[in-house]
Amino acid sequence: MSHTLILSLFLHFIKSVFMLKLPYSFLNVVIFNYFCYHLKKQLLLMGAKILVTGGLGFIGSHTVVELQQKGYDVVIIDNLSNSTLDVLDGITKITGIRPEFHQIDLRDKPKVIQFFKSHPDLQGVIHFAASKAVGESLEKPLLYYENNINTLVYILQQMQAHQIPNFIFSSSCTVYGEPDKLPITEDEPVKPALSPYGNTKQIGEEIIRDTTRAYPEIKAIALRYFNPIGAHPSAHIGELPNGVPQNLIPFVTQTAIGIREQLSVFGDDYPTEDGTAIRDYIHVVDLAQSHVVAMERLLQNKNKSNYEVFNIGTGRGSSVMEIIKAFEKVNKLKLNYKIVDRRPGDVTAVWADTGLAAKELGWQSKLTMEDALRDAWKWQQKLEK
Ligand code: UD1
Repeated sequence: MSHTLILSLFLHFIKSVFMLKLPYSFLNVVIFNYFCYHLKKQLLLMGAKILVTGGLGFIGSHTVVELQQKGYDVVIIDNLSNSTLDVLDGITKITGIRPEFHQIDLRDKPKVIQFFKSHPDLQGVIHFAASKAVGESLEKPLLYYENNINTLVYILQQMQAHQIPNFIFSSSCTVYGEPDKLPITEDEPVKPALSPYGNTKQIGEEIIRDTTRAYPEIKAIALRYFNPIGAHPSAHIGELPNGVPQNLIPFVTQTAIGIREQLSVFGDDYPTEDGTAIRDYIHVVDLAQSHVVAMERLLQNKNKSNYEVFNIGTGRGSSVMEIIKAFEKVNKLKLNYKIVDRRPGDVTAVWADTGLAAKELGWQSKLTMEDALRDAWKWQQKLEK
């Protein structure tokens, strides 16, 4: 007997009991049917098997936690190039469930084919696995095209071959370049990419758009992240930068703990209030939750077209100096920093218009930049123990 049928019988049973106990009224019937409809939908979603590629990485691991906490059955693929097996332990400590894990490099096409053959019951894929260092991508563009583009194609080919209908893609606000107006809406034009990394996100979006056009049985959502920061409040998982961090927050926390001597603030001559550049910093737990919501939109066929794009940010911009001051304040410490020249390729200011995500996904960020800075510091301290 399928679990859909069991569920229906169960709901009918409850319904009968309920009806006998309550005075019959039209309103009761309507309320109860509404309740049953939503309960049934949620129960059916629970247990859906979702593949998370790059599931041991920073955003991937937090997304695995959120999926498991909502009852999804998660399978992780990761090549451990920018993560460790300890992350699996961290996830398990938070959720009590050790997810199925496969150490696969997605560039290995025969292994990818084999994996999908042995997992015919997948209902969706959230694809994080990719390289993300802007500077490195300028030095090794072909590595970036192979890592970020070939792998995407292999996954989409397998989804098509095995009729797996739901796909979420990690995109980036980097596709907007220096925006013409703020906050940035999804209608803003995509600008020529400033790095091979940025180009892989643009090309990735185009590949997905073309794929969903040609194979309408595949539905996809690209989430354009602004600046993810923070860590899980439990401090069991967080960001693990490879070598010297390129991004602001890991550099801040490593300076605060003494691994780095001094933080360099890249430029204080931007046309902003305090002269430092502005970004939209989003707590990684909020970001992770947006993936669950996006996947549920696809699982429930609530999408309005086969390929949709959403900004995922807070809708609020903070300057580098604001971040430093807030970090010092919430964590009660002093940060050693100096102002240096601008970093080539940096834009002045970006922050998201999150109206579309709020309207369509019913999602908006809940945690503050201060929460994220507190959690990032807690995680850094835990790493040192
Ligand atoms: C960068 C990438 C973006 C990518 C994201 C991945 C560029 C141009 N953009 O975003 O495409 O999706 O990382 O996480 O590289 N800063 C300092 N000192 C530091 C580090 C950063 O002052 O040591 C400043 C930067 O100049 C910037 C801000 O902090 O103004 C945020 O920098 P970062 O964390 O690197 O993110 P983005 O550059 O916004």
